[in-house]
Formats: sequence, structure tokens, C-alpha cells
Amino acid sequence: GRPEVLVVGSANADLVVAAERRPAGGETVLGGDTEILPGGKGANTAVAAARLGARVGLLAAVGEDGNGRVLLDSLRESGVYTDLVHLVDRPTGAAYITVTPDGENSILVSPGANNTLRPADVDTALPGAGIMVASMEIPLPTVEHAVLAAAEAGIRPILNLSPVAKVSERVLRVLDVLLVNEHEGAWLLASGFGKADADPRRLLELGPRAAVVTRGARGALVLEDDGVTGVDSPEVEAVDTTGAGDAFAGALAATLAAGASLADAARRAVRVAAVSVTRHGAQPSYPYADELPGGGQYPADGDRD
Ligand code: RIB
Ligand code: NA
Repeated sequence: GRPEVLVVGSANADLVVAAERRPAGGETVLGGDTEILPGGKGANTAVAAARLGARVGLLAAVGEDGNGRVLLDSLRESGVYTDLVHLVDRPTGAAYITVTPDGENSILVSPGANNTLRPADVDTALPGAGIMVASMEIPLPTVEHAVLAAAEAGIRPILNLSPVAKVSERVLRVLDVLLVNEHEGAWLLASGFGKADADPRRLLELGPRAAVVTRGARGALVLEDDGVTGVDSPEVEAVDTTGAGDAFAGALAATLAAGASLADAARRAVRVAAVSVTRHGAQPSYPYADELPGGGQYPADGDRD
């Protein structure tokens, strides 16, 4: 049937090269072999949610090329509904990722096909969904329309504001959940209020019903009117954090769709993100439900601290 979770966002081929260091301007550095892995914030989010068993659709655009096929294969193998993925006459989005021995990565994104997603594309995709998750790397008017149209239709809008950018106050005000990492959260508060001090609770003053701030190895904070809930992350050996935030977003949406509270959804999302950083790549590193504690079913003992 139609997806219960609609993801709106980018699909990129991640072209990953390991190197001793990243080249400075004018410099040439030799690295390892290129790996082509399925990525992009929207596709990543959809795959993470679908692997937990949610019915997920992705509204995205890819080109009719080899990279587009890599993405469609990954989405389908993970159980994502792909009828809403547009095949367009532009190169599939690409993310050029350099990974250095310290585990740090730097990413240059060439949006290509992602830039063709229009606000009107959202209108045909929304009907039937209960939750809509949007992320960036597609045209801003499309993101903003997705949030506003979802809210209008009674669909819970979640915005993963990554990479962070200025979105309209109207959009922030209709959000069910604003999802950011701590850097994005600080950026948003500094730009919105002209101050650099960043008490994350002030994210609620921007107007969303709730906000979730991811904090890497330190877990996440859930901010709601009635208080702040801290969620710890299990301790893991991180080898590649690329796409960990998208794994969190997908797991959060899938678990909310299963009827969880926001705090319980964040507890499960932290566990999913923790698994993802122990494996290479973005989508290939995301766990299926049965790889999580308690068999990954919600509700399950493993989802509660
Ligand atoms: O968030 C991680 C993603 O950012 C990568 O998969 C890459 O495609 C970039 O979009
Ligand atoms: Na990973």
C-alpha cells in the first residue's frame, strides 16, 4: 500500500576515497580506490526507516545513469517504495567524500538531479502518509513547501535541517519535530536571535512543537514543552560516521509511525545511529530491525533505558 512515512530529500552516489590527508588548494594527493556507495540524506533516511519495518516512500530525483541505478537498487533491497523517485535528464547527485585516518570526513556535494525537485512534486506524493520527513540538499522552496503542505494536510512534518540553512519562520512554526545536530542547532539560534550562546531549549522558541538535538557519542536531547529528556548512546567503536544523522532521522520517523512517544523514538534512533557508525558507508551500514537489541520491535525492552 501507500507509504506511511514519506521522505523528501536528496539521493546521492557517495564517491568515497581514503587519503592520508585532504588536499589543500593547488595540491594533488594520491588516495585509495574509489568506492561508490548509495547515499544522500533523503535516500539514507528512507533506507534507515524501511529497514526497521516501516512502510516508507521516497520523493527524490536521480539521473538515468549507473549511479542512479546504484541508488534504486539500494532503496528497493531495503524495501523502500520507489514509485516517487523521478528519473530525470541530469546526472545523479554525487557526494565526493574524503576520509582521513583520524576518521574525519569532508564532503563536496554536486546536487545534479536533486536540483530538479519542484514544490508541485510534493503534492502528488503526500496523500496517505502519516509522517513526512524532509531534509536539505534539494531546492529550499521544495523543502519549505513539503513542510507547509504536510502540516496543512494533517501529516506530521519532521525537518532534519541538515545541512543547516535559513528556513522561513512559518515553516519552523508548523513543525512537529525540528531535528538538528548540536552545530546546526547552535547555528540556528545564533542566526535567529543574533546571539551565539546556545541553550538548546531555546530551539522551541523558534516554534516547533518539539526539537531533537543529536550529540554524536553523547546521544541526543529531546526538547518538549514539558521538559528535556537526555538519551545516552551505547559506547561503540566508530569507524565511519557518514550518514549517522540520517540513520537517526529514519529510525525516529519509523518508530514514531509505530506509535512511540518522541522520547522512546529517540532512544531507538540513538541505537540505530550507534550501529551505523561501526560500519563503513551510509546506507550499507544501517541495521535491520532484527540486528537491534530486543529484536528491534517497538515496543521492546531494548528500546527503554
Ligand atoms: O548525511 C550524509 C550524506 O551527506 C552522504 O550520504 C552524502 O551523500 C551527503 O549527502
Ligand atoms: Na556508517
